[in-house]
Amino acid sequence: MTSGLRALYPDTLLRIAITLPGILHVEKSPAQIDVQNALNSFKVNSLGPMLLMKHLSRFLPSKSSPSFQDIQSPSEVDSSPWHLPSHAVYAMMAARVGSISDNASGGWYSYRASKASVLQLAKTFDLYLQSRGKERAIAIAMHPGTVQTDFTHDYWNGRAMLQPEESAASLLKVLCGMKNGANEGRGKCWDWKGQEVVP
Ligand SMILES: NC(=O)c1ccc[n+]([C@@H]2O[C@H](COP(=O)([O-])OP(=O)(O)OC[C@H]3O[C@@H](n4cnc5c(N)ncnc54)[C@H](OP(=O)(O)O)[C@@H]3O)[C@@H](O)[C@H]2O)c1
Repeated sequence: MTSGLRALYPDTLLRIAITLPGILHVEKSPAQIDVQNALNSFKVNSLGPMLLMKHLSRFLPSKSSPSFQDIQSPSEVDSSPWHLPSHAVYAMMAARVGSISDNASGGWYSYRASKASVLQLAKTFDLYLQSRGKERAIAIAMHPGTVQTDFTHDYWNGRAMLQPEESAASLLKVLCGMKNGANEGRGKCWDWKGQEVVP
């Protein structure tokens, strides 16, 4: 995967990345846990973002990389509706139900447990990026809100949901406003409103 990407984009630095893998097998009680479904949830929801991180990390800027301002043409700056930060942002889609502190209703064992790992991955990857590139790249996890996609198809009736475009625009706004200082938003999980989802 990495060599194929490098061949396609030999000199390109990754500036904004959002990794999305997520599946849900509903378990309302422990008796409903099925080993193959649970394994699949951990594969897609935990290992998926972990392997994407493994393969994509080398495309993020390090201390010696040229700055984005130096390699961005004025027309690119003018045509972008977003005020892109001067550092790279690597975001992994988590879910509020991956928060242990926020768990008031239980259920969804494999989804909750596998998504909790995404908050841990974001923190651990961010520490790596700090040591490798200081403020040049940050990692965060994100919660998109409850969004009307195939993922929530079974819950569409009678529940207020965001449209995908609305969620995506809000997430991008949060992501582009994320600061890169050691005590700022990096390494944490943020929702579409810009509020922290505590682990
Ligand atoms: N919708 C919500 O309300 C909601 C709430 C909280 C968190 N999330 C999270 O947001 C993310 C996007 O969800 P969505 O609502 O956009 O649902 P979706 O349309 O079902 O998207 C699911 C994503 O997971 C990928 N995926 C599924 N199975 C995979 C597999 N076996 N291997 C690799 N990738 C796989 C899909 O890739 P392809 O497109 O290539 O199939 C797609 O990018 C997920 O991580 C989900 O857990 C969603």
